[in-house]
Amino acid sequence: MGDLLEVKASAPAKTILFGEHFVVYGEPALVLAIDNRAYASAKIRADQRIYIKSPSMGFSGFFERESFQAEHGGEEARVKLEPIKIVVQKVLDLSKKETGVNVEVSSSIPVAAGLGSSAAVAASVAAAVGQLFNIKLSKEEIFQVAFEAERFVHGTPSGIDPAVSTYGGVLLFYKDKGFTGIDVEEDIPLVIGYTGVERSTGELVARVREGWERYPSIFNRIFKTGGKVVLRAVRALNTGDFRALGELMNINHELLCAVGVSDESLEKLVYVARKAGALGAKLTGAGGGGCMIALSLPEQQEQVVKAIERAGGTAFIARKTEEGVRIER
Ligand code: MEV
Repeated sequence: MGDLLEVKASAPAKTILFGEHFVVYGEPALVLAIDNRAYASAKIRADQRIYIKSPSMGFSGFFERESFQAEHGGEEARVKLEPIKIVVQKVLDLSKKETGVNVEVSSSIPVAAGLGSSAAVAASVAAAVGQLFNIKLSKEEIFQVAFEAERFVHGTPSGIDPAVSTYGGVLLFYKDKGFTGIDVEEDIPLVIGYTGVERSTGELVARVREGWERYPSIFNRIFKTGGKVVLRAVRALNTGDFRALGELMNINHELLCAVGVSDESLEKLVYVARKAGALGAKLTGAGGGGCMIALSLPEQQEQVVKAIERAGGTAFIARKTEEGVRIER
């Protein structure tokens, strides 16, 4: 099989600047693609099996119809690799091919951390397998396929993660009304801090839903206020008003605390970042651990990174990328 064509594709991770969780209830969210990418390579097999390998997660195995045979990682491998198999199968169906495929994924994006690693992997796999079979998948089709895998992983996601991994850039995203790209000329100076605590997006979305069911009028007001914060943040971005952007991040964070998705590990990193000079800081993504972001001007970034690391997190400076999913040459 060594001489068979191998195709490689990649897609970016994301960070939600404003509006996570509230977006599930129809409010807008502002999301940014960052230049940490997931990669997928795909190769045709001589048999009908779908072989998936993720060396960074330590899982690999073969899918054949409904059965699964783990190579590494036992039964857990099936759970972790199933969303990738859904993507491969969907693209095989679209291409009307009945052949097997080898897919290998690699990514430096921390898993279950709020940076959309599963969506970035799904988008890159869809693009690689589509290219392998020479079907010209549009970005909309790649998004839809990746969204399907996200539904399998997270239950009732808004679609924000696969949208930004597919299209890149900065998006103002509505679950029901679609999204628009926002032109942001300047870089958005961000430090990302990872608590090291893995969590499940599906469980956190369910937690907010429980709160909403118990206190609908209170939660509805929080969601609406969250939506207003997002629209005000778009204005601040358009005018390059980083001071307002930072203050709005702090407000957004407190609203997320109110719906119960922050935790001790996040609070610690958010507060040390603010103290080290960040203009604002908030959790990003589903919360419950995972990552936080701090808006920090370049001259403060080093200090903010150090403060997060002293508090036990890992930190890096994130750069925006305009490039969504792409075939790697
Ligand atoms: C997860 O990255 C963002 C959430 O708003 C869930 C979603 O929108 O699907 C928490």
